[in-house]
Amino acid sequence: MSEHKIDIFDTTLRDGEQVPGCKLNTTEKVKLALELELLGVDIIEAGFPISSPGDFHSVEQIAKAVKDVTVCGLTRAVQKDIEVAADALKFANRPRIHTGIGSSDNHIKYKFNTTREKIIERATAAVKLARNLVPDVEFFAEDAGRADIVFLAQLIEAVIAAGATVVNIPDTTGFCLPHQYAEKIAYLVSNVKGIEKATISCHCHNDLGLATANSLAGVIAGARQIECTINGIGERAGNTSLEEVAMAIKKHPELGLYTNIESTRLHGLSKQVSDTMRMPVQPNKAIVGDNAFAHSSGIHQDGFLKEATTYEIIDPMEVGADISKIVLTARSGRSALAFRFKKLGHDFTRDQVDVLYERFLAVADEKKEVTDEDLASLASSI
Ligand code: KIV
Ligand code: ZN
Repeated sequence: MSEHKIDIFDTTLRDGEQVPGCKLNTTEKVKLALELELLGVDIIEAGFPISSPGDFHSVEQIAKAVKDVTVCGLTRAVQKDIEVAADALKFANRPRIHTGIGSSDNHIKYKFNTTREKIIERATAAVKLARNLVPDVEFFAEDAGRADIVFLAQLIEAVIAAGATVVNIPDTTGFCLPHQYAEKIAYLVSNVKGIEKATISCHCHNDLGLATANSLAGVIAGARQIECTINGIGERAGNTSLEEVAMAIKKHPELGLYTNIESTRLHGLSKQVSDTMRMPVQPNKAIVGDNAFAHSSGIHQDGFLKEATTYEIIDPMEVGADISKIVLTARSGRSALAFRFKKLGHDFTRDQVDVLYERFLAVADEKKEVTDEDLASLASSI
């Protein structure tokens, strides 16, 4: 089967940083950008240069600091934005301007108070200007998830003719279902003249909890870039989570897709982003949550202790997590209890474990989790 590379476009430092309270300074951003480069992302969206002098400076410093990754700056389809972004990116080995405009009738009417024709004019003018300043220009059709598909195809065809190298189809409001998002991408692949000259990109928000599913549906339908953030942070319910799409693609080689993500770095970077942004990761978050490799019910623990793959599809080492956790609660069984006692140096007989198990349940009913100290006092009771 032929293998298609999926470019990972990380927007932790732009869309991710839009989360209230997650603002970063330049030093923090440069540090994270260097880690993202080591992680193997293909593009770093470093910021929105015209938005503030601080953001301009961050984009400029990131462009100087990283070597082997494309550095991207966001703009509106506005001349000044594009010129300022090109200036902020002047030190980048591989600069990219990411410009765009609303594409749904909702945005065209309420945000821009204009017409579809005028949107195409503004979009193509912006792309042409950006292409005069940098060789790599990505166009975003904001709110493409709710846009009329025939108009979206016209807009995308026009910006490719104007020189866009990447066309981003954002589900800005996280509205689409996976099959609908896939249909949009497939329609563009089949109906846009010149589409083979550009990379189609997925940019999905998580308002219905579908950002990862939609991005995967998009690449299965022919897109070749995913825009995502570490820990899925971003506006409202967040963006597509980088660690989720990278691991889903890795765990499903039958898709014929791959990324350059070095998965063993995922846990470390997740923690660094969470600490730097002071934004905790929910415990049940896929791949990087505290409970992602924790087993607490008796049935699962028994299976896991016999053979880890009974309940784990990912070896925690593969994503840089310590080891799988056996959590002792009132739902745990004898095998987990005996296993933990053994780890603590107690090799009890089956009869002793039976007695200890009754005492353990009494403690476990009182507490959320039974600790090693609780086990030590149980052990001394026998
Ligand atoms: O969600 C969105 O549409 C965006 C664009 C600016 C790409 O973040
Ligand atoms: Zn977004």
